[in-house]
Amino acid sequence: MMEAPGFCRSPKHNLKRWVSALVSSHRSLFAVLWIAVFASVFLWQGIFPGGPVFRWRGDGNVGSVPGLPIPKLRDIVFNITDFGAVGDGVTVNTEAFERAVAIIEKLGRRGGGQLNVPPGRWLTAPFNLTSHMTLFLAEGAVILGIKDEKYWPLMPPLPSYGYGREHRGPRYGSLIHGQNLRDVIITGHNGTINGQGQIWWKKYRQKLLNHTRGPLIQIMWSSDIVLSNITLQDSPFWTFHPYDCKNVTVKNVTILNPIFEAPNTDGIDPDSCEDMVIEDCYISVGDDAIAIKSGWDQYGITYGRPSKNIHIRNLVVRSMVSAGVSIGSEMSGGVSNVTVENLLVWDSRRAVRIKTAPGRGGYVRDINYRNLTFHNVRVGIVIKTDYNEHPDEGYDPKALPMIEGITFTGVHGQGVRVPVRMHGSEEIPVRNVTFWDMSVGTTYKKKHVFQCAFVHGRVIGSVFPAPCDNLDRYDEGGNLVSESASQNVTDIDYDI
Ligand SMILES: *[C@@H]1O[C@H](CO)[C@@H](O)[C@H](O)[C@H]1NC(C)=O
Ligand SMILES: *[C@@H]1O[C@H](CO)[C@@H](O)[C@H](O)[C@H]1NC(C)=O
Ligand SMILES: *[C@@H]1O[C@H](CO)[C@@H](O)[C@H](O)[C@H]1NC(C)=O
Ligand SMILES: *[C@@H]1O[C@H](CO)[C@@H](O)[C@H](O)[C@H]1NC(C)=O
Ligand SMILES: *[C@@H]1O[C@H](CO)[C@@H](O)[C@H](O)[C@H]1NC(C)=O
Ligand SMILES: *[C@@H]1O[C@H](CO)[C@@H](O)[C@H](O)[C@H]1NC(C)=O
Ligand SMILES: *[C@@H]1O[C@H](CO)[C@@H](O)[C@H](O)[C@H]1NC(C)=O
Ligand SMILES: *[C@@H]1O[C@H](CO)[C@@H](O)[C@H](O)[C@H]1NC(C)=O
Ligand SMILES: *[C@@H]1O[C@H](CO)[C@@H](O)[C@H](O)[C@H]1NC(C)=O
Ligand SMILES: *[C@@H]1O[C@H](CO)[C@@H](O)[C@H](O)[C@H]1NC(C)=O
Ligand SMILES: *[C@@H]1O[C@H](CO)[C@@H](O)[C@H](O)[C@H]1NC(C)=O
Repeated sequence: MMEAPGFCRSPKHNLKRWVSALVSSHRSLFAVLWIAVFASVFLWQGIFPGGPVFRWRGDGNVGSVPGLPIPKLRDIVFNITDFGAVGDGVTVNTEAFERAVAIIEKLGRRGGGQLNVPPGRWLTAPFNLTSHMTLFLAEGAVILGIKDEKYWPLMPPLPSYGYGREHRGPRYGSLIHGQNLRDVIITGHNGTINGQGQIWWKKYRQKLLNHTRGPLIQIMWSSDIVLSNITLQDSPFWTFHPYDCKNVTVKNVTILNPIFEAPNTDGIDPDSCEDMVIEDCYISVGDDAIAIKSGWDQYGITYGRPSKNIHIRNLVVRSMVSAGVSIGSEMSGGVSNVTVENLLVWDSRRAVRIKTAPGRGGYVRDINYRNLTFHNVRVGIVIKTDYNEHPDEGYDPKALPMIEGITFTGVHGQGVRVPVRMHGSEEIPVRNVTFWDMSVGTTYKKKHVFQCAFVHGRVIGSVFPAPCDNLDRYDEGGNLVSESASQNVTDIDYDI
């Protein structure tokens, strides 16, 4: 484990070490002077906190900066090279990131700090973020996760999973991690955070890992988090995992993991989170592009924290293994008030899916899908109530989830094999489903491509392909045309 530098606790000692380290690593005299000047002002401020606010003109133009000038998003701006980092793809820069974060942590009351990462390949082991921090990745900047798992710290299981998810006991932490934070921004000129997941996927397949793989970015018990204008790539496991967070925005982010043989590389997994926006993103990954979750079986029921008030819009997503936007299968704390709109799912296995099982408990309710476009997907809309994957034998099979209030308005597309497969069961019926304005071109000339079982709800106006008999039919004016005779009839065919 790396030791935090504690710069402010014994400042003189550490400053000396820091400066001499810089000199010995052949930094220019100018950089040393700059840091000495900065550090003395910084110390002076620490001693006289009421003193005038120090403003570092961190416009990123120290030396010659190719490409776009870096905006100044906080009063105090650092460059990762100030901390001795080398962007050669070989030097391990963990200590540089940790020192930078430790200094920004001390600046919290003064508005925190911005850490610029210039073009280069900045190899690092996992490190923590701090509150009031902006991490800015310049164009051509790549933060690279170290491949050797011995550098990845182990952490206790998530309380709402009771379990490492893949293995019992502790799990690997994430490459970029944070707990109990406020006001964190990760942004840039489309710089990249690359987890170098290939080695992890391979070891996972070969069963060489004893602990659950780590996400690329995991932020826990935090609020006011923004990810924007960056690319996330090759995550070992889930890519961005906000856990029990509030007010999280993901905007204009590209997420790229291989579409095959990159197991469990979900794009974004809002987990027991509320007030979250995901917009203007392109996501192409090896599992669900988005999977909204809230804990697993008895552990999630006990933890009892729902995911709610989530708005997802203007996304282009691709998932050949799982689905574009999923809810579940871990949803034991409940999921409600989710809007998914202006979503294009292309060349994928499934477009949108709600998945759960007996034992989960919880609920999925008040879910609104608007303006969905499916382009070459095998199954469009899926509800699955027998996703029987449990943490251990301690789950309660009588803990039945509820699924109700699911509305689809404007579903279009082409090249879809099975536009709808809603597989409720006697134990877990699907209630109050509405379809309004749907026309999806199918590739399969079989009759029952709108499949239902234990589904209660309605279609309004024109819906193509012809809906299942489980649903009531209304005209555009809202007048009942025909009532369903058989909500419980099962017409599911997994062979199509
Ligand atoms: C960071 O420092 C390096 C080395 O001194 C310099 O080349 C680069 O331009 C700086 N980048 C920013 C964004 O300040
Ligand atoms: C990172 O944060 C976690 C959780 O707060 C903590 O357990 C761990 O020690 C921190 N790691 C470092 C290097 O500070
Ligand atoms: C998205 O990010 C790119 C760079 O990553 C930037 O050029 C573009 O202006 C951003 N678009 C929006 C809508 O923020
Ligand atoms: C950002 O970079 C990724 C990966 O190189 C690329 O696919 C994407 O188009 C870029 N986004 C913008 C807005 O330039
Ligand atoms: C997993 O555990 C086995 C047996 O204890 C050990 O030989 C192996 O090195 C461990 N693998 C990793 C990746 O820690
Ligand atoms: C949510 O977070 C953003 C970004 O930090 C912040 O600007 C905004 O004020 C926060 N909203 C609320 C309601 O706290
Ligand atoms: C992302 O880029 C857009 C366009 O340049 C800019 O308006 C926005 O402020 C950036 N986001 C962040 C969080 O810096
Ligand atoms: C549902 O979530 C949206 C944000 O996506 C929020 O504006 C709205 O107030 C929420 N509705 C309820 C009933 O909480
Ligand atoms: C529907 O979503 C598509 C993107 O999938 C977008 O181009 C279109 O403008 C949206 N339509 C409306 C009415 O918002
Ligand atoms: C059905 O769901 C819609 C929204 O999804 C909601 O407005 C309505 O109140 C629900 N109806 C019943 C009877 O629960
Ligand atoms: C249909 O199933 C539901 C619960 O799954 C049950 O309450 C209802 O009585 C059944 N209806 C018929 C007509 O069998």
